[in-house]
Amino acid sequence: MSPIPLGFERRRLMAMDASVRKQAMTASWEAAASYHQKTKHHFHRSARSLGHMDWANQPDPFRRFTSAPLIRLPLSAEKQTTSYDALYERDDLPAQAVTLETLGSFFQLSLAISAWKEYEGSRWALRVNPSSGNLHPTEGYLLAPAIRNMHAEPGVYHYAPREHALELRSTIARATWEAMAVGFCPGTFFVALTSIHWREAWKYGERAYRYCQHDIGHALAAVRLAAAVHGWSVWLLETLSDEALAALLGLNRLKEFEPEDCEEPEVLAAIMPSASLGSECASIPPEIIRKIAGGSWNGKANRLSENHVHWDAIEAVATACNKPTTAPPKVEEAGTSACGSNVRIERTCTARQIILQRRSAVALDGVTSLTRDQFYLMLMRVFPTRRRVPWDIWRSQVCAHLAVFVHRVDGLKPGLYFLVRDPGQEAALHAALDTSFGWEEPPGCPAGLPFSLLQTGDCRQLAGQVSCGQAIAADGAFSLGMIVRFEESLKEHGAWFYRRLFWETGMIGQILYLEAEAAGVRSTGIGCFFDDPVHDVLGLRGMQYQSLYHFTVGGPTEDTRLTTLPPYDMNRPVR
Ligand SMILES: Cc1cc2nc3c(=O)[nH]c(=O)nc-3n(C[C@H](O)[C@H](O)[C@H](O)COP(=O)(O)O)c2cc1C
Repeated sequence: MSPIPLGFERRRLMAMDASVRKQAMTASWEAAASYHQKTKHHFHRSARSLGHMDWANQPDPFRRFTSAPLIRLPLSAEKQTTSYDALYERDDLPAQAVTLETLGSFFQLSLAISAWKEYEGSRWALRVNPSSGNLHPTEGYLLAPAIRNMHAEPGVYHYAPREHALELRSTIARATWEAMAVGFCPGTFFVALTSIHWREAWKYGERAYRYCQHDIGHALAAVRLAAAVHGWSVWLLETLSDEALAALLGLNRLKEFEPEDCEEPEVLAAIMPSASLGSECASIPPEIIRKIAGGSWNGKANRLSENHVHWDAIEAVATACNKPTTAPPKVEEAGTSACGSNVRIERTCTARQIILQRRSAVALDGVTSLTRDQFYLMLMRVFPTRRRVPWDIWRSQVCAHLAVFVHRVDGLKPGLYFLVRDPGQEAALHAALDTSFGWEEPPGCPAGLPFSLLQTGDCRQLAGQVSCGQAIAADGAFSLGMIVRFEESLKEHGAWFYRRLFWETGMIGQILYLEAEAAGVRSTGIGCFFDDPVHDVLGLRGMQYQSLYHFTVGGPTEDTRLTTLPPYDMNRPVR
């Protein structure tokens, strides 16, 4: 820990001469790998954190830009009747018009509050997108054309979840918007995500940067699915640098943010009111970004806590992982859309219902089992194909695979299983994992799904043990570790790709959360696990593969002490 204000290093970089900055920003992959190594939990030593909860300085989970005009969004999700299972087949859904009404339901189904919880006089909000420790480092932004009853001009907005409202940060000149929209289909709008590291670091110390990135992955999948509800396509603007995105969102207007709780740019998505994606990789030219950044901006970001603790490791990894402008990714054809034809499940739930009821289980019952079809459907939904939502936005190489501890799935022997999420990587994984594993095809496995039984056995105790001794990993129907192709990916792309590896795992987590709800069970993301002991179980050596995120799915045990309250006052005025 040091007394240097958070963000100091990054600000120094921003002020540096451009060529020096470029050098510093294309930091070697080793910087990310070294942070990763340093923030591992070990059986007898955890990653560095404060070690106690500094309640007086808990960061405010709600960002507001004081004095920025506030435009309330309607709570219109109830009008969305798309069925949950239809979400994944994007071509079947008609595209709705982009209006104040549909933007209201889009945000309500992606980043809004889903409920308030109350216990002994304290209240806290839960959101549609989950977050490690419910600390919510992710902020959302909208760049939209002129929309009736919203604003007569195009603009840059911050989404305020507590109010379910947009804060107008800046108006964009019509001509600038028109130039920006070239290459995108008519009616396209943009959504950006940012992270406030301090919100997570307050509790989790050095490991917090990882959790911020998981949360971005969850939010990204939440955004993709909310768009699918409306029949909209999503395209990530992959080439953009962090510096350009910061300028576009006004994050580099340092006087408008407290240095301690500045926001880091993460990702920009184009959302298109059209069922199918364009074939071109459109982006936003630098001169347009300069024009928007040079406009007039409203509001000043609220201070999130009185004092804060600075974590050098987070500052260093954030600087190393700064994304430069990159070439468009090569489109990888991962997986096959043909898999799973023998899995049949009839259900009638709507997407809105499942998205809004998603919750983390705090405890699992240790008895509920899943049917084989329920289980296989979950695996198929996280298996990427170019046409399956949300993986249609993922044009980078697939890097995450699943080591699954099956505890109770009818018709499957308990044991350790493995899902290879990109068949092209099967041979490399066979070579890297323990050579004594059997790689047998389990009964009823959908054709084309590279899922194998490695070893039979009761893994409940082991699964709990490696997930920091958390009973939820042992008491589910299954739990898993997400194993990513680590070292080669970072060497290939640079340190900034470290963030992507977590995003991919967060997206998998978001789908599992929803799939669990649709199957009538519940799940929980697990960021706390003992890194190297997981690798030992799998026989993995070195940094070629690393486990980045764990997950558990099973029958929930409710905490009846808590009261649940509705997310919003439905009678609140809209304007
Ligand atoms: C990246 C991530 C890591 C998490 N890690 C854990 C964990 O290790 N143990 C746990 O009990 N819950 C964990 N959770 C669950 C969160 O505590 C939960 O999402 C949060 O309290 C908000 O509740 P909700 O998911 O019901 O909205 C994690 C969630 C995320 C997104």
